[in-house]
Amino acid sequence: MARPRLITLNVASIDGRLTLAPGYNLMAPDERWLEVVNDVGDSYQWPRALHDPQLMLEGSGSFLSPVDAALIEPEDADPPEGEHFLPAEVVEAPGRRWFAVVDGRGAIDLQFTEWPDEAWAGWHSLVLTSGAATEEHLTRLRRRGIPYLVVGREHVALARALELTGELLGVHTVVSTGGGRLGGALLRHGLVDEIDLEILPWVFGGRGTPALFDAAPLASDEWPTRLELLSHETLPDGRIRVRYGVLDHTNR
Ligand SMILES: NC(=O)c1ccc[n+]([C@@H]2O[C@H](COP(=O)([O-])OP(=O)(O)OC[C@H]3O[C@@H](n4cnc5c(N)ncnc54)[C@H](OP(=O)(O)O)[C@@H]3O)[C@@H](O)[C@H]2O)c1
Repeated sequence: MARPRLITLNVASIDGRLTLAPGYNLMAPDERWLEVVNDVGDSYQWPRALHDPQLMLEGSGSFLSPVDAALIEPEDADPPEGEHFLPAEVVEAPGRRWFAVVDGRGAIDLQFTEWPDEAWAGWHSLVLTSGAATEEHLTRLRRRGIPYLVVGREHVALARALELTGELLGVHTVVSTGGGRLGGALLRHGLVDEIDLEILPWVFGGRGTPALFDAAPLASDEWPTRLELLSHETLPDGRIRVRYGVLDHTNR
């Protein structure tokens, strides 16, 4: 099965920043962030209605303090896979959908499996991890009933991990709501098909502040990614929603 179609979705300032400052925790926002996103509402509603994804993808940076950006190296054509944990009673539940997190180091202490919120009925947590995760960590996930895929050596081999979600879980559309580093890794690996953005009428500025597609700079022989405008929509209070399709992934 081909890898699923992947759309990135972010809410960003006009200068492409995703938070107010390095280390700023959106899970414990202060009054400034609450004011900035005042009218955004549920930012998941739009992509869910539009794309009907079976899997929403998040980066570890939403849960943990940031680590140095990993260099985006070519992924092995055939990355090593560990033993996946996909219990039938979770995976085969009718209408199952996934809230997945990329956690190659096995560093996130996920506390939830499913959401009590009726709007998210059927969605279950899933961890994408790598050979760097300890056996102790994997045991903890199994005890909590959290399925996982183990793909790659030190980091999750993203292309193969996405393919596996298609092959093993029947996923054909993914919306990544991850931060800039996950978006950057996905983009540089040529895995992004569409970029959806809600642009806020604010400028944040600030070198090092998490920004869209935070990847290693382009080398002198690498081209930026060409896009085509799919739609744009002006929202109240000066916000703009744009959707761009990715035309060519890498070099000419
Ligand atoms: N405004 C928005 O739309 C929005 C959306 C999401 C997050 N945020 C905010 O943005 C901040 C986090 O952003 P961030 O950019 O620091 O982190 P991030 O994108 O959330 O996390 C980095 C992710 O990329 C993975 N990664 C990086 N390089 C990789 C590679 N070469 N191969 C495989 N995986 C790779 C990391 O995996 P490992 O864990 O294995 O290192 C990690 O899961 C937080 O403050 C969060 O609240 C804002």
